[in-house]
Amino acid sequence: MPDHADTLHDTATEPRPRREVRSFVVRAGRMTAAQERAWTELWPRYGLETGDALLDLADVFGRAAARTIEIGCGNGETLVALASAHPDRDYLGIEVHRPGIGHLLLRAEELGLKNLRIVCRDAVEVLRDCIAEASLDEVLLYFPDPWPKKRHHKRRIVQPAFMSLVASRLRVGGVLRMATDWQHYATQMLEVASACPLLANESAAGEYVPRPDSRPVTRFERRGQRLGHGTWDLSFRRS
Ligand SMILES: C[S@@+](CC[C@H](N)C(=O)[O-])C[C@H]1O[C@@H](n2cnc3c(N)ncnc32)[C@H](O)[C@@H]1O
Repeated sequence: MPDHADTLHDTATEPRPRREVRSFVVRAGRMTAAQERAWTELWPRYGLETGDALLDLADVFGRAAARTIEIGCGNGETLVALASAHPDRDYLGIEVHRPGIGHLLLRAEELGLKNLRIVCRDAVEVLRDCIAEASLDEVLLYFPDPWPKKRHHKRRIVQPAFMSLVASRLRVGGVLRMATDWQHYATQMLEVASACPLLANESAAGEYVPRPDSRPVTRFERRGQRLGHGTWDLSFRRS
Protein backbone atom coordinates (compact mmCIF):
# COMPACT_ATOMS: atom_id res chain seq x y z
CA MET A 1 0.00 0.00 0.00
CA PRO A 2 1.41 3.48 -0.82
CA ASP A 3 2.69 5.49 2.18
CA HIS A 4 0.16 8.23 1.76
CA ALA A 5 -2.83 5.91 1.91
CA ASP A 6 -3.41 6.42 5.63
CA THR A 7 -3.73 10.17 5.10
CA LEU A 8 -6.55 9.84 2.60
CA HIS A 9 -9.98 10.78 3.85
CA ASP A 10 -13.20 9.08 3.12
CA THR A 11 -14.70 12.13 1.42
CA ALA A 12 -18.13 10.55 1.30
CA THR A 13 -18.47 10.45 5.10
CA GLU A 14 -16.10 13.07 6.54
CA PRO A 15 -17.19 16.70 6.52
CA ARG A 16 -14.72 19.08 4.90
CA PRO A 17 -13.12 21.52 7.31
CA ARG A 18 -15.07 24.80 7.09
CA ARG A 19 -13.16 27.66 5.54
CA GLU A 20 -13.11 30.80 7.64
CA VAL A 21 -14.96 33.74 6.14
CA ARG A 22 -12.48 36.57 5.71
CA SER A 23 -13.17 40.25 5.15
CA PHE A 24 -10.79 40.46 2.19
CA VAL A 25 -9.68 38.69 -0.93
CA VAL A 26 -5.97 39.11 -1.53
CA ARG A 27 -5.65 40.63 -4.98
CA ALA A 28 -2.34 40.04 -6.71
CA GLY A 29 -2.16 43.75 -7.63
CA ARG A 30 0.82 45.03 -9.57
CA MET A 31 3.64 46.56 -7.60
CA THR A 32 5.59 49.46 -8.99
CA ALA A 33 9.38 49.22 -9.01
CA ALA A 34 9.45 51.75 -6.15
CA GLN A 35 7.04 49.64 -4.10
CA GLU A 36 9.18 46.53 -4.75
CA ARG A 37 12.18 48.46 -3.51
CA ALA A 38 10.24 49.60 -0.47
CA TRP A 39 9.44 45.99 0.42
CA THR A 40 13.09 45.00 0.11
CA GLU A 41 14.69 48.00 1.77
CA LEU A 42 12.08 49.48 4.11
CA TRP A 43 10.09 46.49 5.35
CA PRO A 44 12.93 45.54 7.74
CA ARG A 45 12.65 49.03 9.27
CA TYR A 46 8.88 49.45 9.47
CA GLY A 47 7.45 45.93 9.11
CA LEU A 48 6.58 43.64 11.99
CA GLU A 49 6.51 39.87 11.59
CA THR A 50 3.95 38.29 13.88
CA GLY A 51 3.15 34.78 15.01
CA ASP A 52 1.04 33.52 17.89
CA ALA A 53 2.82 35.53 20.57
CA LEU A 54 1.71 38.87 22.00
CA LEU A 55 3.57 41.88 20.62
CA ASP A 56 5.34 44.00 23.21
CA LEU A 57 4.47 47.39 21.72
CA ALA A 58 6.59 49.31 24.22
CA ASP A 59 9.53 47.23 23.03
CA VAL A 60 8.58 47.62 19.35
CA PHE A 61 8.43 51.43 19.57
CA GLY A 62 11.09 51.77 22.24
CA ARG A 63 8.84 53.78 24.53
CA ALA A 64 5.45 53.76 26.25
CA ALA A 65 3.27 56.26 24.35
CA ALA A 66 -0.42 56.42 23.41
CA ARG A 67 -1.12 53.80 20.73
CA THR A 68 -3.38 53.77 17.69
CA ILE A 69 -4.04 50.79 15.45
CA GLU A 70 -5.57 51.27 12.03
CA ILE A 71 -7.29 48.19 10.65
CA GLY A 72 -7.12 47.96 6.85
CA CYS A 73 -4.97 51.07 6.42
CA GLY A 74 -4.87 50.69 2.60
CA ASN A 75 -2.04 52.75 1.14
CA GLY A 76 -1.47 54.44 4.49
CA GLU A 77 -2.81 57.90 3.67
CA THR A 78 -4.53 58.31 7.05
CA LEU A 79 -1.91 56.53 9.14
CA VAL A 80 1.01 58.46 7.67
CA ALA A 81 -0.79 61.80 8.11
CA LEU A 82 -1.59 60.99 11.74
CA ALA A 83 1.87 59.66 12.57
CA SER A 84 3.43 62.75 11.04
CA ALA A 85 1.07 65.13 12.90
CA HIS A 86 1.47 63.37 16.28
CA PRO A 87 5.09 62.36 16.87
CA ASP A 88 4.26 61.87 20.56
CA ARG A 89 1.96 58.90 19.74
CA ASP A 90 2.66 55.50 18.16
CA TYR A 91 0.80 54.08 15.15
CA LEU A 92 0.45 50.49 13.98
CA GLY A 93 -1.19 49.72 10.64
CA ILE A 94 -2.59 46.32 9.73
CA GLU A 95 -3.15 45.62 6.04
CA VAL A 96 -3.04 42.66 3.65
CA HIS A 97 -2.66 44.48 0.33
CA ARG A 98 1.06 44.43 -0.43
CA PRO A 99 1.19 47.26 -3.04
CA GLY A 100 -0.69 49.49 -0.55
CA ILE A 101 1.89 48.66 2.11
CA GLY A 102 4.65 49.43 -0.41
CA HIS A 103 3.16 52.91 -0.89
CA LEU A 104 2.92 53.40 2.88
CA LEU A 105 6.55 52.39 3.36
CA LEU A 106 7.71 54.93 0.79
CA ARG A 107 5.75 57.76 2.44
CA ALA A 108 7.00 56.76 5.90
CA GLU A 109 10.57 56.95 4.65
CA GLU A 110 10.03 60.29 2.89
CA LEU A 111 8.72 61.78 6.12
CA GLY A 112 11.33 60.05 8.27
CA LEU A 113 8.64 58.64 10.57
CA LYS A 114 9.83 56.84 13.68
CA ASN A 115 6.44 56.24 15.29
CA LEU A 116 4.87 53.98 12.66
CA ARG A 117 4.95 50.22 12.10
CA ILE A 118 3.01 47.92 9.80
CA VAL A 119 1.83 44.31 9.97
CA CYS A 120 0.89 42.45 6.76
CA ARG A 121 -1.70 39.97 7.97
CA ASP A 122 -5.42 39.51 8.66
CA ALA A 123 -6.24 42.11 11.31
CA VAL A 124 -8.63 39.71 13.05
CA GLU A 125 -5.77 37.28 13.70
CA VAL A 126 -3.41 40.05 14.74
CA LEU A 127 -5.85 41.50 17.26
CA ARG A 128 -6.73 38.03 18.55
CA ASP A 129 -3.21 36.62 18.88
CA CYS A 130 -0.77 39.52 19.13
CA ILE A 131 -2.42 42.47 20.85
CA ALA A 132 -2.81 42.40 24.61
CA GLU A 133 -6.16 43.15 26.21
CA ALA A 134 -6.71 46.78 27.26
CA SER A 135 -3.48 47.89 25.56
CA LEU A 136 -4.72 50.37 22.92
CA ASP A 137 -5.80 54.00 23.14
CA GLU A 138 -7.45 54.14 19.75
CA VAL A 139 -8.59 51.80 16.97
CA LEU A 140 -9.43 53.16 13.53
CA LEU A 141 -11.58 51.36 11.00
CA TYR A 142 -11.98 53.73 8.09
CA PHE A 143 -13.83 52.69 4.96
CA PRO A 144 -13.65 48.92 5.47
CA ASP A 145 -14.55 46.89 2.38
CA PRO A 146 -18.33 47.37 2.13
CA TRP A 147 -19.21 44.05 0.49
CA PRO A 148 -22.42 45.61 -0.85
CA LYS A 149 -24.09 42.46 -2.23
CA LYS A 150 -26.38 40.77 0.27
CA ARG A 151 -24.78 37.36 -0.20
CA HIS A 152 -21.42 38.93 0.74
CA HIS A 153 -22.58 40.74 3.89
CA LYS A 154 -21.11 37.89 5.95
CA ARG A 155 -17.67 39.07 4.77
CA ARG A 156 -18.05 42.50 6.37
CA ILE A 157 -15.49 42.83 9.14
CA VAL A 158 -17.93 44.55 11.50
CA GLN A 159 -19.74 41.66 13.18
CA PRO A 160 -20.56 41.16 16.90
CA ALA A 161 -17.55 38.90 17.59
CA PHE A 162 -15.18 41.34 15.89
CA MET A 163 -16.63 44.25 17.85
CA SER A 164 -16.10 42.39 21.16
CA LEU A 165 -12.53 41.61 20.11
CA VAL A 166 -11.75 45.24 19.27
CA ALA A 167 -13.40 46.50 22.47
CA SER A 168 -11.38 44.06 24.58
CA ARG A 169 -8.11 45.41 23.12
CA LEU A 170 -8.97 49.03 23.96
CA ARG A 171 -8.08 50.32 27.39
CA VAL A 172 -10.94 51.74 29.43
CA GLY A 173 -11.53 55.21 27.95
CA GLY A 174 -9.95 54.19 24.62
CA VAL A 175 -11.84 55.05 21.43
CA LEU A 176 -12.95 53.14 18.35
CA ARG A 177 -13.52 55.39 15.33
CA MET A 178 -15.18 54.08 12.19
CA ALA A 179 -16.30 55.62 8.93
CA THR A 180 -17.99 54.31 5.81
CA ASP A 181 -19.55 55.69 2.67
CA TRP A 182 -22.14 52.90 2.44
CA GLN A 183 -25.32 53.74 4.32
CA HIS A 184 -26.33 50.11 4.78
CA TYR A 185 -22.93 49.32 6.31
CA ALA A 186 -23.16 52.46 8.49
CA THR A 187 -26.43 51.15 9.93
CA GLN A 188 -24.81 47.77 10.59
CA MET A 189 -21.82 49.44 12.30
CA LEU A 190 -24.14 51.50 14.49
CA GLU A 191 -26.23 48.47 15.46
CA VAL A 192 -23.29 46.16 16.15
CA ALA A 193 -21.23 48.71 18.12
CA SER A 194 -24.28 49.91 20.10
CA ALA A 195 -25.01 46.30 21.10
CA CYS A 196 -21.47 45.70 22.38
CA PRO A 197 -21.64 45.90 26.20
CA LEU A 198 -18.07 47.25 26.48
CA LEU A 199 -18.68 50.25 24.22
CA ALA A 200 -20.52 53.54 24.70
CA ASN A 201 -21.55 55.74 21.78
CA GLU A 202 -19.93 59.18 21.86
CA SER A 203 -22.97 60.59 20.11
CA ALA A 204 -25.40 61.73 22.80
CA ALA A 205 -28.25 60.90 20.43
CA GLY A 206 -26.93 57.35 19.95
CA GLU A 207 -26.32 58.10 16.30
CA TYR A 208 -23.42 59.13 14.05
CA VAL A 209 -20.83 61.78 14.99
CA PRO A 210 -19.40 64.69 12.98
CA ARG A 211 -16.31 63.88 10.98
CA PRO A 212 -13.30 64.10 13.34
CA ASP A 213 -10.81 66.82 12.33
CA SER A 214 -8.09 64.19 12.57
CA ARG A 215 -9.49 62.09 9.69
CA PRO A 216 -8.05 63.08 6.31
CA VAL A 217 -10.07 62.48 3.15
CA THR A 218 -8.62 59.39 1.52
CA ARG A 219 -8.71 58.17 -2.07
CA PHE A 220 -11.54 55.78 -1.17
CA GLU A 221 -13.63 58.57 0.31
CA ARG A 222 -13.01 60.83 -2.69
CA ARG A 223 -14.14 58.04 -5.00
CA GLY A 224 -17.30 57.58 -2.92
CA GLN A 225 -17.95 61.32 -3.09
CA ARG A 226 -17.64 61.24 -6.89
CA LEU A 227 -20.24 58.47 -6.92
CA GLY A 228 -22.55 60.63 -4.81
CA HIS A 229 -22.13 58.63 -1.58
CA GLY A 230 -22.46 60.26 1.83
CA THR A 231 -20.02 59.57 4.68
CA TRP A 232 -20.99 58.32 8.12
CA ASP A 233 -18.60 58.63 11.08
CA LEU A 234 -18.97 56.69 14.32
CA SER A 235 -17.11 56.97 17.61
CA PHE A 236 -17.41 54.60 20.57
CA ARG A 237 -15.57 54.75 23.88
CA ARG A 238 -14.53 51.68 25.87
CA SER A 239 -16.42 51.83 29.15
C1 LIG B 1 -11.73 50.05 1.05
S1 LIG B 1 -10.09 49.92 1.64
C2 LIG B 1 -9.91 51.37 2.67
C3 LIG B 1 -8.49 51.70 2.99
C4 LIG B 1 -8.27 52.87 3.98
N1 LIG B 1 -8.78 52.55 5.29
C5 LIG B 1 -8.81 54.17 3.48
O1 LIG B 1 -9.75 54.71 4.08
O2 LIG B 1 -8.31 54.67 2.47
C6 LIG B 1 -10.18 48.62 2.83
C7 LIG B 1 -8.83 47.99 3.12
O3 LIG B 1 -8.96 47.06 4.17
C8 LIG B 1 -8.10 45.96 3.91
N2 LIG B 1 -8.61 44.82 4.70
C9 LIG B 1 -9.83 44.25 4.61
N3 LIG B 1 -9.96 43.28 5.52
C10 LIG B 1 -8.80 43.24 6.21
C11 LIG B 1 -8.32 42.44 7.29
N4 LIG B 1 -9.09 41.48 7.83
N5 LIG B 1 -7.09 42.64 7.74
C12 LIG B 1 -6.29 43.60 7.19
N6 LIG B 1 -6.69 44.40 6.18
C13 LIG B 1 -7.93 44.22 5.69
C14 LIG B 1 -8.16 45.79 2.43
O4 LIG B 1 -7.02 45.12 1.92
C15 LIG B 1 -8.23 47.24 1.94
O5 LIG B 1 -6.96 47.77 1.66
